[in-house]
Amino acid sequence: MLVKNVMLFVGISVLLFSHSSAVASGEDDIGQGENNYQAYCSPCHGANGDGKGDLGAALSTPPRNHTDASIMSKRTDEQIFKTISLGGEAVGLAPDMPAHNTVIPEGEIRGLVKVIRRLCKCEYKK
Ligand code: HEC
Repeated sequence: MLVKNVMLFVGISVLLFSHSSAVASGEDDIGQGENNYQAYCSPCHGANGDGKGDLGAALSTPPRNHTDASIMSKRTDEQIFKTISLGGEAVGLAPDMPAHNTVIPEGEIRGLVKVIRRLCKCEYKK
């Protein structure tokens, strides 16, 4: 009986814990997306996403203007996710766009995709 209760308790705790941490990280990801954008992306893509960051000016390939809906609406969320995770070269763009999968967790990269959608005020259109 005692063992059974302990198992039940452990089971419920695991359920509660995994649920609440999933919700918490979902909320964090969006807010964290803005912080991450300023920390990791703005040096090249600019604080407001216009592609005019100081570091970007030194590159041979100009960083993308993320506010340009005519280009960003041609990319799926998955493509944007892959570009941020694996870098430009992995999607046929310039290697000047670095991979971020070793420094930013996957959930937060999804948050960054949302930040880019907010910057371009656009969704994917065929
Ligand atoms: C070292 C400079 C640099 C940093 C840092 C950087 N980028 Fe880029 N990024 C680039 C360049 C340059 C390109 C353009 C590649 C091309 O046109 O071939 C690019 C392209 C992109 C694209 C592809 C746009 C398209 O046309 O599909 C996305 C998305 C993107 N960056 C997101 C980000 C995000 C999000 C971050 C921060 C986590 C980031 N970048 C950080 C330089 C950078």
